[in-house]
Amino acid sequence: MAESMKGLKRTCRCGELGIQNAGQTVTVMGWVAKQRNKGGIIFVDLRDRAGLLQVIFEEADCGADNFAKAERLRSEFVVAVTGTVEKRSGAVNENLATGEIEVRAKEVRILSEALTPPFPIESNTKTKEEIRLKYRYLDLRRPDQQEKIILRSKICAAFRRFLTEEGFLEIETPILCKSTPEGARDYLVPSRVHPGSFYALPQSPQLFKQLLMCSGYDRYFQIAKCFRDEDLRADRQPEFTQVDMELSFVDVDDVIDVNERLLQYVCREAIGLEISLPLPRMKWIDAMNRFGSDKPDTRFGMELVDVSDVVAGCGFGVFTGALENGGSVRGINAKGQAGMPRKKIDALVDFAKGYGAKGLAYLAIQEDGSYKSSFAKFMTQEQLGALAGAMDGQPGDLLLFAADRTNIVWSVLGALRLELGEQMGLIDHDRFDFLWVVEFPQFEWSEEENRFMAMHHPFTMPMEEDLPMLETDPGKVRAKAYDIVLNGVELGGGSVRIFQDDVQERMFAALGFTKERAQEQFGFLMDAFKYGVPPHAGLAYGLDRLCMLLTKAESIREVIAFPKVKDASCLMTDAPGSVDAFQLQELGIALANPEEASRNCR
Ligand code: AMO
Ligand code: AMP
Repeated sequence: MAESMKGLKRTCRCGELGIQNAGQTVTVMGWVAKQRNKGGIIFVDLRDRAGLLQVIFEEADCGADNFAKAERLRSEFVVAVTGTVEKRSGAVNENLATGEIEVRAKEVRILSEALTPPFPIESNTKTKEEIRLKYRYLDLRRPDQQEKIILRSKICAAFRRFLTEEGFLEIETPILCKSTPEGARDYLVPSRVHPGSFYALPQSPQLFKQLLMCSGYDRYFQIAKCFRDEDLRADRQPEFTQVDMELSFVDVDDVIDVNERLLQYVCREAIGLEISLPLPRMKWIDAMNRFGSDKPDTRFGMELVDVSDVVAGCGFGVFTGALENGGSVRGINAKGQAGMPRKKIDALVDFAKGYGAKGLAYLAIQEDGSYKSSFAKFMTQEQLGALAGAMDGQPGDLLLFAADRTNIVWSVLGALRLELGEQMGLIDHDRFDFLWVVEFPQFEWSEEENRFMAMHHPFTMPMEEDLPMLETDPGKVRAKAYDIVLNGVELGGGSVRIFQDDVQERMFAALGFTKERAQEQFGFLMDAFKYGVPPHAGLAYGLDRLCMLLTKAESIREVIAFPKVKDASCLMTDAPGSVDAFQLQELGIALANPEEASRNCR
């Protein structure tokens, strides 16, 4: 039966005690991590969010009743213990912050009993993630998991401190919004009051923060929940958190400056990491050419090399065909991998195909300087030599080539480079490489929609010198957009916004919006701009991603208290679920396929 806390007050957390407290009487409360009964003496490891503490029970100190209670203790019981802090009688436990001391119990109260947990509550668990997430409230008790959630809180506090100090105002924006196209799919919320109408959950506070600039708030930030109905990956959740900001009367360099100092502050406060400023910047086109990615992992080399000129006119149809179709041939040099077994090379070919490659050509330079290659028979020795030379190929190296449309070549070799970097152990996991990627293209061509789409969003300002190409050559227009990348992960992104009517109109035209549609979707923003709009710019960080990288977690799920899994469901609450027929009726909603709906209900 549970006892009450009456008359007892916790004096400190378990993990906070040390040798400096020796001699003090304390009351600690927490969960039993382990109970060991050695006959006349019982050891209990007591755990709370600050750490573990050894408590020792002897009948002579605590009396028969308390000793009997100590005998009953099982893992995960919640107890309160009053006792004296003493220097450990046994050996000091070097692995424990409280390892020099123990608490000799005088009184124990069992505040709550516990069932045996379905998995042990310990760090570095091997328990499958599905089980952990089903019992997330238990998983969240594990010390290494707690560390991550606590660090996340520290990171948020550091963001708030720095931004407030710099004159940013924290302002909330709505969760029930109007659906706007572009970007990911919206989550919709039906309106009861307006049957047949829907709110959308915000994909980001973008429009509202721009409106706040129109209203004169000048520097805004928010730790904002965002919702995107897109396919999930290790670094994507359907609901996630941005540290979002917007600033007035600024240009690219101003945003970068304050954000570099912000990152420096947050990294120092959170994990004691010192980053030196300014952070490097790389143009988008250089990132693509060198790393095949707009979020390059610069912790290792193995850069892409364009060998189109070298292979032009050679006898290998795969290469020349790609060039004739306006594509390119590029390669990477996997140093020292010439001896890679055929099976492993075939696996790389399959890997490349997963990224849209039609194949992957290889040239292994043997130790004696001869070549082993999938295309040697189509080229002369001189041509092979020139190709190896262009790739800085030395005996022992394995050169891998992709030939296709340049977009595909970039994505295939970019992914292959990361895969090989990991396989070959080239990545120093203790490094934190920050990088700004700047001068993004304004548009990207959508094959599906057969039109240009905004690469960032439709409110992003083109670079002034590229404005004349907005109508004539939109594919060449560069944007005043920037991303902050950390170790190959897109941590955040933003842009300078369009604040002139005429430029915004030209932008909508380039995106294929009619005037009416632009007015219907974004009229309130356009109208606001008519009443005096300051030049403005902003940026948003993926907070979950930053926490993942700073805690060295493998997925953002580990730094989110209650994450969703790949199919966007919550294994603990079973969301999403069915609703009453009455609820649907009130909302004026009929299910198109009720049978399927009941099958989907979990
Ligand atoms: P963007 O769409 O680039 O920009 O988003 C900003 C950052 O949010 C993070 N992020 C995500 N994190 C987890 N799960 C997701 N599904 C997810 N999607 C995005 C990324 C990304 O860099 N309003 C603009 C910002 C601006 O222009 O000021 C925006 O939302 O780390
Ligand atoms: P094939 O002529 O299709 O047998 O291809 C000969 C070699 O070229 C094989 O090693 C293929 O994997 C490779 N290959 C095929 N298509 C491409 C491509 N688009 N880029 C690079 N290599 C390719």
